[in-house]
Amino acid sequence: MRLEGKSAIVTGAGRGIGRDIARRFAAEGARVVIADIEKSHADAAAAEINDGIGSAHALSADVADPDQVARLFAEAGEYFAAPLDVLVNNAGIAHHGAFLELTLDDWQRVLSNNLTSVFLCGQAGARLMAPRRQGSIINIGSISAQRGSFGRTAYGVAKAGIHQMTRIMAVELGAMGVNVNAIAPGPIDTGMTSFGPDQKRRYLERIPANRFGLAGDISGVAVFLASADAAYMNGAVVNVDGGFDAAGLIFSYEELTTVTSDARDESISE
Ligand SMILES: NC(=O)c1ccc[n+]([C@@H]2O[C@H](COP(=O)([O-])OP(=O)(O)OC[C@H]3O[C@@H](n4cnc5c(N)ncnc54)[C@H](O)[C@@H]3O)[C@@H](O)[C@H]2O)c1
Repeated sequence: MRLEGKSAIVTGAGRGIGRDIARRFAAEGARVVIADIEKSHADAAAAEINDGIGSAHALSADVADPDQVARLFAEAGEYFAAPLDVLVNNAGIAHHGAFLELTLDDWQRVLSNNLTSVFLCGQAGARLMAPRRQGSIINIGSISAQRGSFGRTAYGVAKAGIHQMTRIMAVELGAMGVNVNAIAPGPIDTGMTSFGPDQKRRYLERIPANRFGLAGDISGVAVFLASADAAYMNGAVVNVDGGFDAAGLIFSYEELTTVTSDARDESISE
């Protein structure tokens, strides 16, 4: 029970990665608020946890809306009847759109849902944590923040903003006893990720682990970052991507050992 007695808010926990983080937090002894714009998903996620895993409470909120964020944190406080220990800023929307075709509406919608939401919830959470000089904030970024990928203008920029906000929050809040770290997932199969066969193959060619990630790959790291084991971690952006970010071209062993590439090789100089 690494999170025994902790109170945690997980945004976007109605499904996917956030839902698994909430489940794992509850299994480790935390009381969890499942915050999601989709009330029915939040209800289902909380019911699953309350059915034998631990304690959870569903709240619906659009975390890109300042009034709804204020209400979310007030209602979460009533549920916990205790201080907030952990906040996971996970809510976000997926988006692909070629740079030349990206509309201003789409740009603003992605920035608002994926970046402004982290600012609003991060500020609300930190304002509760800083006076107690205790707390942990985990922001879910993306490898898309770090690699230039086709169609990722809005999404990649929003996620890069999250990574940089994580570092700045860590600098300012670290002195107040609050740790802020980010997880940068690679492609994760949440059951909702819909890639065509060609896209899947191209991804797998670039992931040394040779598989997509699972929600559990992210939630395990989130538990660690929320736990006392990570007490001295602050401002880190942790890649959880099977080596995707580290990889350039990946060759098979056969390709490497049959190609002669050493200029000093006698067979080349002859
Ligand atoms: N799945 C991946 O491959 C992947 C890779 C890198 C990063 N991520 C990031 O991980 C996080 C979770 O992704 P996922 O794959 O589980 O997505 P998902 O679509 O399955 O779940 C996202 C959840 O967030 C909620 N949400 C969206 N906007 C919201 C808002 N404004 N207010 C409240 N709730 C809102 C949705 O209702 C949904 O339940 C996102 O931030 C995503 O960008 C995912």
